[in-house]
Order: sequence, then structure tokens, then C-alpha cells
Amino acid sequence: MNARNTLGINEKGHLSIGGADCVDLAAEFGTPLYVFDEAYIRTMMSVYRDTIAREYGDGLVLYASKAFSCEAIYAIAREEGIGADVVSGGELYTAMQAGFPAEKICMHGNNKLPRELRYALDCGIGLIVVDSDSEAEDLERECAARGRRQDVLLRINPGVEAHTHAYVQTATPDSKFGFSVASGAAKSMTEHILRCPHLRLRGFHCHIGSQIFEKSSFAVAAEKCLAFMAQLRDTLHFEADTLNLGGGFGIWYTDKDEKFTPEKYADYLRTLIRAVKEGCARFGLGLPRLMIEPGRSIVGEAGITLYTVGAIKEIAGIRKYLAVDGGMFDNPRFCLYRSEYTAVLANRAAEPSRELVSVAGKCCESGDLIGVDMALPKAERGDLLAVLSTGAYNYSMASNYNRNFIPPAVLVKDGKAEYIVRPQTPEDLVRNDVLPARLRR
Ligand SMILES: Cc1ncc(COP(=O)(O)O)c(C=O)c1O
Repeated sequence: MNARNTLGINEKGHLSIGGADCVDLAAEFGTPLYVFDEAYIRTMMSVYRDTIAREYGDGLVLYASKAFSCEAIYAIAREEGIGADVVSGGELYTAMQAGFPAEKICMHGNNKLPRELRYALDCGIGLIVVDSDSEAEDLERECAARGRRQDVLLRINPGVEAHTHAYVQTATPDSKFGFSVASGAAKSMTEHILRCPHLRLRGFHCHIGSQIFEKSSFAVAAEKCLAFMAQLRDTLHFEADTLNLGGGFGIWYTDKDEKFTPEKYADYLRTLIRAVKEGCARFGLGLPRLMIEPGRSIVGEAGITLYTVGAIKEIAGIRKYLAVDGGMFDNPRFCLYRSEYTAVLANRAAEPSRELVSVAGKCCESGDLIGVDMALPKAERGDLLAVLSTGAYNYSMASNYNRNFIPPAVLVKDGKAEYIVRPQTPEDLVRNDVLPARLRR
């Protein structure tokens, strides 16, 4: 189980989330079903918000909405007083539909489309992170036409790449994101933006990776960004006032990962804050406005997915498959990254694990698995399987592959659940189909 009070086993031996019995949730809403615990989400948002406010001062937490985007999550972020980052016109539209303040939104993307940039300007977005020469040109032209100046950051690649428990510093960064500091591209692009009369360069953005447990990697990235800022001050007389260090804090998926309490996440942030303060003192820089963009660590462990076990197939001497009513269309992360998860039989959650099974989806793909060698009690058809820590990058990467329905999502508060994403219907599946007259019968 995760390290918060989100999940528990109730007196009936059922898995509970946010005080709601998973068996009751499945009976009321059906499966597959995404379930989110609101208290968990709010705790994480407020931990980041309060730590920055108390220990740094001028800063803003931006919820990285790519992790899970729907109107309710933006409404919660708005109520918690944090900002949001978006990476497409679609995420921005969703945030605007939820009444999110545009001035607290920061837009990313390595290839923002001209129409996405125009929409962002129409909304009055707070910050746009410039990630290519052509985008700077498009943005300058659009802003000139509107007679306004837009605040922007420049995405830089400081040459630190971190994954899970390790990080590397690399002098020859190969990434579709950002401008390399080492190659001089970041400095040239800074000069270019400073020459654009309708762009106001506030500072820099970097994001070094995701699911990172190595605290020092953030500190190294911060240090490198500050060194770059000092170099620009000395050579271009440009003093940046904003530093956005991206997201990436790791979460618990299996017992190979650490279990972090909210206080431990505050510690991560303290390490980063200390690095920024020390770096600024060393380079003689004023403290910039500090931004971070956590996504996974806010919603990942807040969410689980409930499935019903269907076909069970044992291949003697090879493996046993439990097939569920979901699969890669609601959770493509195993197919994409071989990501590992922990599963629980939610209707028999107190029973000890007895066997290792592979959990298969229902898609017509051999690789459609949720996990291999997952430890479970002996499951039977009709059992309720909960896959834990599915709140991030599951719904947001879901598809209608094989014309399966993307599952609905419910939000649990004080033991009560309500829809935040309604179930799809067969009509939704054909909504955008067009049958040319010559093919009709
Ligand atoms: C630019 C940027 N910011 C923030 C995030 C959020 O990262 P995480 O969900 O790991 O916190 C990502 C994710 O890859 C990202 O690309």
C-alpha cells in the first residue's frame, strides 16, 4: 500500500480509497474505473505550495496537467491557489473551461502550433515557454499584430538528465526539448529573444526527467541554470527574474520504489530551494521567482484503477494470465515503458499473495499487459482487481483502441464518490465518424 492514508483495508476485508469501499465503487460505477482520492491531491498541492511560500518566498507551483487533465483537477488546483502548466491547446481549453486563471498558466511544448499560440494569447496566458526559433518568430508576429508584449521563458537544456535513481551530466545533450547551454545555443537564442520587441524574456525553464528519486540531480540542474544566468548577466547584461525547474519527483509504484510521505516531498523541495539560494549567493544573483511543475507526485498515488477479472489462462510451466476488462487503452504504460505496478484483489484485500500472474488487457495485442509477475492471492473470475498508483499518465494517455471505451473517473471525498469524467457511450465512439453517401445502404 502507499505511504499515505489514501488506501486501506476495511472491516469487510475490502480495499478502500479515501474512505470509500472499492467493492461498492465497482458496484455503483462499474469497471474499469479510475478512482481518485481528492484529499491526497489537495495534500500534495498544499505541501508544495506551503513549502515554497514558507521557505523561499516568491514562487509558484504549477500543476503539470499532462499527468491528468480534466476540468475537476484544474478546479482543485485553482482552489488550492496554485498554477498549472499545459502542453497543448486542448489542455489549455480544459483549464479555461474550469475557470482557471489564465495568468497562472504556463504553456510548454516543443512544437506549439500557431493556432495554439494564438489561443494562448487570446486567453491572456501568463507565460509561454519558447522552445524553438520558429516559435519565437510566430509569437513575436502574433504579439506585434495584437500590439501587446508577452512574458516568456526560454527552455534550456542544462546537460543534466535524470531517471529514477540516477542522473548523468552530459555535454552533448540529444533532446527535442530546449536549447543546449553547453553548445551555446541557449545563449544565442536568449540574444534573439531579447531583440524581439513584443516578447519579454523573464527567465528560463528546464525539466530534467521524471520519476526521479535522486534529490541531488535537481540541485545540480538548479546550479547549472544559475551559472548560465550569471553568464548572461555578465555578458549580455540581462538579469532573469524567473527560474522554472520543471517537475519529476518520483512516486511509489512497487516496493522497489521508496514510499514518500508529504513531508519527504517537502524535503525534496527544500534541497532544491537550498541549491537555488546557495547558487544565487555564489553567483551574486538576486533570488529569481521560483517555479516547479510536479505532476506525477500530485496525482499518481492519488489514483487507482479497478478492473473485473475475466478469463484466466494457465499455460503449464510458463505463466498464468488473468485477463481484465481494461488494458492498454486505459493504461498504456507497461506497453510503452515496461512500467511496473502493484495490484491488489480489492474484494479480498486482506488475503496474502499466493502466486505470480501476468495481468493481461482485452485488446487484440499480445503486448497488451498491465504487468507481469504480479503477486496476488489466487484470483477467480469476477474478482475485483485494483492496480495502484495509476493516477498519473494513465487517463491522460488513454485511447479508444479497438473501440474500447475510455473508462470514467470518479473523485472520492470523505468516502463519497462522484464522476469527474463520465462514461463513454457507443455514440461517443462513432461521434466523429462520417459515412460518405456512396457507402450508405
Ligand atoms: C516540461 C515538464 N514539466 C513538468 C513535467 C511533470 O513531470 P512529473 O509528472 O514527473 O512531475 C513534465 C513531464 O515530463 C514535463 O515534461
